Amino acid sequence: MVLYSNSIFNVAGVRDRLFVMFLEKVKKPIVGLAPMDGVTDAVFRYMVCLNSRPSFVMTEFVNVEGLARGAVKKIPAFIFDDIERPIVAQIFGTEVDSFYKAAVLASALGFDGVDINMGCPAKKVEKKGSGAGLIKTPELAKDIIWAVKRGVKDWAEGVTLEEAGVHSDVIASVKVIGKRVQIPVSVKTRIGYDKPITEEWISQLLEVGIDFLTLHGRTLKQMYGGEADWDEIGKAAVMCREAGVMIIGNGDVKSMEDAEARTRDFGVDGVMVGRAVMGNPWFFGGDEPFHGDRVQAARDHLKYFEKFLGEHMAYHTVKKHLGWYLKGFDGARELRAKLMQTESAKEAIELIDSV
Ligand SMILES: Cc1cc2nc3c(=O)[nH]c(=O)nc-3n(C[C@H](O)[C@H](O)[C@H](O)COP(=O)(O)O)c2cc1C
Repeated sequence: MVLYSNSIFNVAGVRDRLFVMFLEKVKKPIVGLAPMDGVTDAVFRYMVCLNSRPSFVMTEFVNVEGLARGAVKKIPAFIFDDIERPIVAQIFGTEVDSFYKAAVLASALGFDGVDINMGCPAKKVEKKGSGAGLIKTPELAKDIIWAVKRGVKDWAEGVTLEEAGVHSDVIASVKVIGKRVQIPVSVKTRIGYDKPITEEWISQLLEVGIDFLTLHGRTLKQMYGGEADWDEIGKAAVMCREAGVMIIGNGDVKSMEDAEARTRDFGVDGVMVGRAVMGNPWFFGGDEPFHGDRVQAARDHLKYFEKFLGEHMAYHTVKKHLGWYLKGFDGARELRAKLMQTESAKEAIELIDSV
């Protein structure tokens, strides 16, 4: 596994809030890449950062209980390259102790921040009380935030992975590169469980103290349907401003112009974009790709898949990206169909080179 160091945020002695200070300095609007499980893996994030420049990125969510039990198959989700910085590790679960361990681990791996997922609506996540399920248990949500804050602080003050209780199999499979700095803690959540309870819910999160909040303007029940309610995000923005906490709005942002308009109209510090970036690593540059760029992106994605994730992930996971890149030009459909029949990245690259 390759994990890189030398972040400008990890210079020894520099204070913990550098990441947030950095984001505050970034030219407005702040436009981050939203985490998407099964989509924003190390390769796709790398592609995005090569082709345009999001203000920050997040990993796919990683289950803290799995990590605590030594499930090393979760570790590839924490692979990243320096080009992606600032990069935030996202974690989810319900066990407070496991969150503590995961926060120490994320710090040790050199992430620029750690985010707690309180927004995933997937049945298998929510029915265990994690993800957006935590909206129903604010006391547990607060205990989790405390545990993560304690984890990043303990790391900065010198705790080792062994002392923090991180599983020995996990320790054996990672390289510690994180400097002893206290990284920021954030939460990504929704506006409610079955109905919007924005003010009630967000006030609980602000009470504990977080460095920044990302708010998706849908309830859990809405999943991804309907439209994100940006008026609710606007209400949270007022609360965050009063509390001095940065807020990132999320939901249905379609373009860089849209990002700018929503930032201005709803009083947020910036936005995070998910689905509009699928197959569109050029999104943050605001330009439309040419046919040649699309073919090149497919080839590059395959190349970086082999380099970063080939030994950890099945080849077929790449095919959806190829399908998303290769559209809107003559012959795209035929090329996609042929690529779907390939059985390795090498075979797919040869096919692309031959057309
Ligand atoms: C396929 C998929 C996977 C997702 N996985 C995650 C995840 O791992 N963590 C998370 O916080 N949100 C996840 N989300 C939610 C997105 O981060 C984002 O909040 C949502 O898609 C709304 O933003 P958008 O309209 O810009 O896509 C996922 C969304 C999709 C579509």
